[in-house]
Amino acid sequence: MEHQEEETNFDRLVAELQRQITEQERALYSAKVIEEAHNPTNLGRMAEPDAYGIVHGWCGDTIEVYLRLNGWRIREATFMTDGCGPSVACGNMLTRLVRGTSLEEAGEIKPEDLIAALDGLPEESLHCAELAVSTLRHALERYLGGQLRRGRDAASPTGRGDGSTGEAGEVVETGNAT
Ligand code: FES
Repeated sequence: MEHQEEETNFDRLVAELQRQITEQERALYSAKVIEEAHNPTNLGRMAEPDAYGIVHGWCGDTIEVYLRLNGWRIREATFMTDGCGPSVACGNMLTRLVRGTSLEEAGEIKPEDLIAALDGLPEESLHCAELAVSTLRHALERYLGGQLRRGRDAASPTGRGDGSTGEAGEVVETGNAT
């Protein structure tokens, strides 16, 4: 009986804490940010991606972007992050935005576009959007750089190509706090 009462009190405490956390989240973030952060559909590593980017932000968090291509179009995009809730929201929204776009269109996405797609971010989370977009650009640059090298090597007398960009390895650090 006493044990049951303790459990009920504990359940009440958990429910109250949950309610307070939800209230605080709603005060800070848009409904879209909360939805993308809590239910990310594109979170996860991709096996053998065509393009891969990883950027380590000044905040100490890292975002990775994985792309599967169909010619010059992005067929599938996923991400990983060890960062904050907004970084999950940014990674998820960004990978949703680029799916189906051409590489050129994806390269034109700016942090402001991502922030707008999320119905805004608080000032202290703006850099999370910058980190996500930098990671996407890193993936695109590595892929395009690899294609260029491949083209050059194919034209060279040895004909050697090493244009693969699917492997992890290079980590780009972003600049100062904005
Ligand atoms: Fe580092 Fe959000 S605080 S990505």
